[in-house]
Amino acid sequence: MLDAPNVNDLGPFWMPFTANRQFKSAPRMFVAAEGMHYTTAEGRQVVDGTAGLWCVNAGHGNRKIVEAIQKQAAELDYAPAFQMGHPKAFELASRLATLMPGDLDHVFYTNSGSESVDTALKIALAYHRARGEASRTRLIGRERGYHGVGFGGISVGGIVNNRRFFGSLLAGVDHMRHTHLPEQNAFSRGQPEHGADLADDLERIVALHGAETIAACIVEPMAGSTGVLMPPKGYLERLRAICDKHGILLIFDEVITGFGRLGSGFAVEHFGVMPDLVTAAKGLTNGAVPMGCVFARKHIYDAFMTGPEGAIELFHGYTYSGHPLACAAGIASLDVYRDEGLFERCAAMAPYWEEAVHSLKGTRHVIDLRNMGLIAGIELEPRPGKPTARAFEAFLKCYEKGVLIRTTGDIIALSPPLIIEKEHIDVIFSTIRDVLNDLD
Ligand SMILES: Cc1ncc(COP(=O)(O)O)c(C=O)c1O
Repeated sequence: MLDAPNVNDLGPFWMPFTANRQFKSAPRMFVAAEGMHYTTAEGRQVVDGTAGLWCVNAGHGNRKIVEAIQKQAAELDYAPAFQMGHPKAFELASRLATLMPGDLDHVFYTNSGSESVDTALKIALAYHRARGEASRTRLIGRERGYHGVGFGGISVGGIVNNRRFFGSLLAGVDHMRHTHLPEQNAFSRGQPEHGADLADDLERIVALHGAETIAACIVEPMAGSTGVLMPPKGYLERLRAICDKHGILLIFDEVITGFGRLGSGFAVEHFGVMPDLVTAAKGLTNGAVPMGCVFARKHIYDAFMTGPEGAIELFHGYTYSGHPLACAAGIASLDVYRDEGLFERCAAMAPYWEEAVHSLKGTRHVIDLRNMGLIAGIELEPRPGKPTARAFEAFLKCYEKGVLIRTTGDIIALSPPLIIEKEHIDVIFSTIRDVLNDLD
């Protein structure tokens, strides 16, 4: 049967990263969105404090992006991604290469952040092999890293629940220590003072395994999904230096930090540290069509462009790599970011945001506050014996009061659209303050 007997049955949809039974007993449904707001099924307006899932940087329903997708769907719905091309895939890649600093000039398309991470790891392995260093097969991640949910991403990632249920994962992966030092860095504004020396943990791993076995080291320049952890001052620079010393590729996972979230195009620019590969997704299409990409520097791309001209250089790609609708959404998103000056707007709004974040100091249950660009982490004291329960209840209560927040563990993570106005910031933080003060 092509029709379902009851389309209001919530059972068949197995929801991702969701407490399915809790949700289905009290569903929270969005039916429309515009600008800074969602509309719920009951007709309530909810302020979007999270840009969806860190992706709707230009706000919801932007007309230019909507129209570009509509036009593209009518003009060219799909073109084969392998051995064929279409103009917008090349146009978007050129725009993206221009946006990125230095020689991060080559773009490999994927459909999500997870695929971008697995693609970057595969490119790193194949790069060393192409250059005759096939012994470099080890991949290094970091505790508390989030790199999506593919097998590569969960292997280099460092969140126990994303790993423990899924077998032995990739072989040959090791992890550096994370950079969260609340005893020394609590209530930091921007980059924390302490912890640059944690980059030296990579030296420990090199000493253990031998540099000639290590292909790449992957980190989020600012770790979002693991609870908003800013890089300590000097940390990323030190990591780059250690990678250089040992011939290890450095990969920045910029799925969250890309496209203006920190007030610059990418964290690469923001921190002035140049990795070899960068992953992106989310803001690439303003969340409107699934798309991700990997940026590769010239030396990486060039290492593959050898051998007979008729030969495929990289045995990797997806049916929907560079999908026409995604490319149209991507080009329109870049236009909107430029024309509305949204990266600059983020930087201009960041000081007001910072004050609002730190105004929560002293609020019940708050044990740490951290911020950068239009991002905030609000760390709560967990309920004894019930980790995550307090934050989840705060999430439900904020939603009832008309504000969408996101929680990870006992940390509230905020990342609003970059079009946010001061009055939205005031509403978000006064709601969170009221909710926390009323919460056990
Ligand atoms: C740093 C980072 N990498 C990868 C991913 C995975 O992206 P996706 O959910 O699009 O697969 C995310 C998602 O939040 C992320 O934050």
